[in-house]
Amino acid sequence: MRAKTWPTIAGLAYGGDYNPEQWPREVWDEDVRLMREAGVSLVSVGIFSWALLEPRQGEFDFGWLDELIDLLHANDISVDLGTPTASPPAWFFVANPDARVISRDGRVMGFGSRGMASHSAPAYRDAAVRIATELARRYGKHPAVVMWHVHNEYGVPVGEDFSPAAVTAFRAWLHHKYGSLEALNAAWGTAFWGQRYGVWEHIGAPAVAPSVVNPAQRLDFARFTDHQLRQCFVAERDAIRAHSEYPITTNFMANQSFTTDLWAWARELDIVSNDHYLTAADPDGHIGLALAADLTRSVARGAPWMLMEHSTSAVNWQPRNVAKRAGEMARNSLAHLARGADAILFFQWRASRSGAEKFHSAMIPHAGTNSRVWREVVDLGATLGALADVRDSRVSAEVAILWDPESIWAQGLEWHPTVDHSTGDAVRTYYERLWRDGITVDFVHPSDDLSRYRLVVAPALYLLTAQHAQRLNSYVADGGTLVVSYFSAIVNEHDAVHSGPFGSVLAESLGVVVEEWLPMRMGEKAYLTWHATAGAAIECDVWQEDLRLEGAQAMATYASGPAAERPAITRHGYGAGAGWYVSTRMAVSELAQVMRAAYADAGIAVSGYAESLEVVTRHGLDADYVFAINHGDAPASMVIEGTQLVANVPVDGNVSIPAGEVVVVRSPRPVEGGDGQRRERPDAVINSR
Ligand code: GAL
Repeated sequence: MRAKTWPTIAGLAYGGDYNPEQWPREVWDEDVRLMREAGVSLVSVGIFSWALLEPRQGEFDFGWLDELIDLLHANDISVDLGTPTASPPAWFFVANPDARVISRDGRVMGFGSRGMASHSAPAYRDAAVRIATELARRYGKHPAVVMWHVHNEYGVPVGEDFSPAAVTAFRAWLHHKYGSLEALNAAWGTAFWGQRYGVWEHIGAPAVAPSVVNPAQRLDFARFTDHQLRQCFVAERDAIRAHSEYPITTNFMANQSFTTDLWAWARELDIVSNDHYLTAADPDGHIGLALAADLTRSVARGAPWMLMEHSTSAVNWQPRNVAKRAGEMARNSLAHLARGADAILFFQWRASRSGAEKFHSAMIPHAGTNSRVWREVVDLGATLGALADVRDSRVSAEVAILWDPESIWAQGLEWHPTVDHSTGDAVRTYYERLWRDGITVDFVHPSDDLSRYRLVVAPALYLLTAQHAQRLNSYVADGGTLVVSYFSAIVNEHDAVHSGPFGSVLAESLGVVVEEWLPMRMGEKAYLTWHATAGAAIECDVWQEDLRLEGAQAMATYASGPAAERPAITRHGYGAGAGWYVSTRMAVSELAQVMRAAYADAGIAVSGYAESLEVVTRHGLDADYVFAINHGDAPASMVIEGTQLVANVPVDGNVSIPAGEVVVVRSPRPVEGGDGQRRERPDAVINSR
């Protein structure tokens, strides 16, 4: 059976997780009345309902869900039906104690919280497929149900499992991957520390050991974990597909959980969906939000995606749960929309009175409807209604950031030159520079076609296979501009150092190799001088290197620190393009000059707007939708012509965006050549690997 690609809902979907089983029946009537008031069109139901739906093994009780779905249907509210497999019932763990997850340090995970059972336990897989099948049989053609929400955030709160079932499955996975013990021993470098295996059964999961565990084994275990979780999804998805044509998703945690390879997962879904929560400790959390949204759109290969969860105000699980202030929820929602989401949903509809999440914000807060949050929820529903036309328009980018989960997994292992370096920080720094320069980016995998991007940035791409490095070299030769930061292209797919000096696999395009890393002491600062501005000092920290130029030109030199007097930033004109190498860590502000020089090479213009004005365009068939989100304290302005949506007023050149507000302008696409032909929408190119 073929699934449709987008649920049948008019306009942009709006709503959230709905958990009515926590409330008496009479509250449901109030819920649907208020949902209508707020313009809610889609709710996710049943995500944590396994214990109610199957109170005893094999005994199902769908009565309450029938009634609920019919009530929603009668009120024109569509259902995103969950499979409840992220939280098996107590009876399941009592009947199947072996299906409990065991942590890396050997602790058996008990019941009384949530989190899946062992991804490799046959009893779990069977039970999950059984409940998914029962749901699909019963509701697979129900007119209120428009899509399926399998599980919840695979890999969160637990992904890795060290139970006997997982160890057995890991061995089988390795056997399938390597075929022979010789190949495995070679790939893992088991000659080191005498780890050579002579018998398959002697291979274990990389649990806690007296010292650091073989990194190649750990990298394979991360791949295996991702694979097992995905197989759990596929099993449920296929069970549903046998009975239903509605599209199927599972909600990601892009850029907030790194357990899964989102590129691979996205290929298995009908619709990509994502959950995003601001990092309260980050005063610029909206930049992290933009990053997550761009990453989600990228793994969706440019297709519209769903913001499955975010919060109306504070969450409850961070050390300090900062509440959103007036207007912030709308800014957040419209920033996701600007970056390609066609659905804006929340966790959750009504704040829970009991349980671990009772202090989490909701669409209906504990304060009830006489509250700022509720009024903003109603306003947002109206705003999304006025923006319905934006649906299915696309975002395009000329700049890409390389994103490879395998590199993130390998980089996260122990005993690297410094603990002060992380891929996440490096990606955020370069992303933030681009964000502040008003440049929209895609994320790409190193195996993707890069030719459509003028500029490709590789922040801390520690693991880069020789084959992928060659693609980057060719990209530059063919006219691309590449920016690579330190500690990139170091190891191959087995976490083994490429032969030759560090960086040799990119030497062709970068014209530089690294003789030695020079990590710095905690808190130590140094300076480099940027030649083009006659030696203006730029601060750096964490890391310097002894570089050997092999064709590249030094654009900046270290003025202090362990590499004083040596090249710090280089540029290599190679073929029709240019390769930049940045051998140290710099803050976002300090990176500005370097990136401007790279933009110039790539022929990319910076926006010229205030840094706090986020401007993103979605391209429709015959119009552009320009979102201007003012994160600053002062009004900002933008030059544009068209119609200001929501307010529905014409804009003839200059539009003012008050502090903290969002303006969306529909700008008709100029007709090319006066021939009356519409230009094609610049859809994202579908890459596949
Ligand atoms: C998400 C999860 C939801 C809820 C939410 C709270 O990660 O999917 O069920 O727990 O966090 O912020």
